Amino acid sequence: MVVLSGMRPTGRLHLGHYFGALQNWLKLQECNENKCYFMSADWHALTTDYSDTSKIDDNTLDMVADWLAVGLNPKKSIIFKQSCVPQHNELFLILSMLTPLGWLYRCPTYKDQIKEIKNKDLNNYGFLGYPILMSADILLYMTDIVPIGADQLPHLEFTRNIVKRFTHLYGKLFKTPKAKLTKEAKVLGLDGRKMSKSYENTILLTEDIDVLHSKINKIITDPLKIKQNDLGHPKQCVVFSFYQILNSEELLTIQNSCELGLRGCMTCKRNLMDKLVEFIKPLNNERKHLISDRKYLEGIIKMGCHEAINIANATMKKIHKVLKF
Ligand code: TRP
Repeated sequence: MVVLSGMRPTGRLHLGHYFGALQNWLKLQECNENKCYFMSADWHALTTDYSDTSKIDDNTLDMVADWLAVGLNPKKSIIFKQSCVPQHNELFLILSMLTPLGWLYRCPTYKDQIKEIKNKDLNNYGFLGYPILMSADILLYMTDIVPIGADQLPHLEFTRNIVKRFTHLYGKLFKTPKAKLTKEAKVLGLDGRKMSKSYENTILLTEDIDVLHSKINKIITDPLKIKQNDLGHPKQCVVFSFYQILNSEELLTIQNSCELGLRGCMTCKRNLMDKLVEFIKPLNNERKHLISDRKYLEGIIKMGCHEAINIANATMKKIHKVLKF
């Protein structure tokens, strides 16, 4: 199976990235039958950050360091940068010709972001075309599986529709890609909303341990549980949601003792802190080591781009053929 996914390089990754998508990247990478492509979507970053491009390249390195720290392996996966493979652009252009404008205006992610993001002017053609570029990314490698977070599902649906339209117009060339979600497709942030950099409610995958302490301390747990022996509602508690994503063996015990008022929130937080430190500390060490060697990271991306270009070229040849160019 061909696996492809990407992330916009917006800086260091957080637990939402890991439990929402990366976990699946790692699983898929381990299957020998898969050919995996993981891409820094730096052109996608440009759709919202076009007015300040100064950080995009550094952010790619930061992000790739995090990918490697959690276990992406450049010997098994092709790790590359979208802007190094010009074929993404060519396919984007071709697909944009056959995409009805209504599909773009109706895309739920487009509507949401236009409503929510007020500090940037998103009234531009590139932002409207975001899902077309993502479709080009996916189709250029004849992808079967796209491991993504739940927020990206509308874009995958969009891609599947583009495949239908392309097939109808020119004949069968592309496979219809399928999404793969993690069990915890949505990870909550410190304030109970979805974990997201723009909400400033994240825990970094490589959070400094002191910062982690203060972030966990500030979490508001179940507002109805004030004293230790008040009956708790773990399903509505952010701390408990972290136990869930960490897949803690004591999940049921914790739930029961919280509900029965036998366990206080301080104990819960202390326990969670231990678990997170156990998870994050090795990643911290690994990242420190990786980020100190910029050349090594750049080398990996360069090697990945080289491989990606070869495949992209082969696909473009097939596309030219069905388009009779
Ligand atoms: N839109 C995705 C995100 O914001 C990133 C992305 C770009 C992507 N191209 C892709 C994901 C292709 C999967 C496949 O997270």
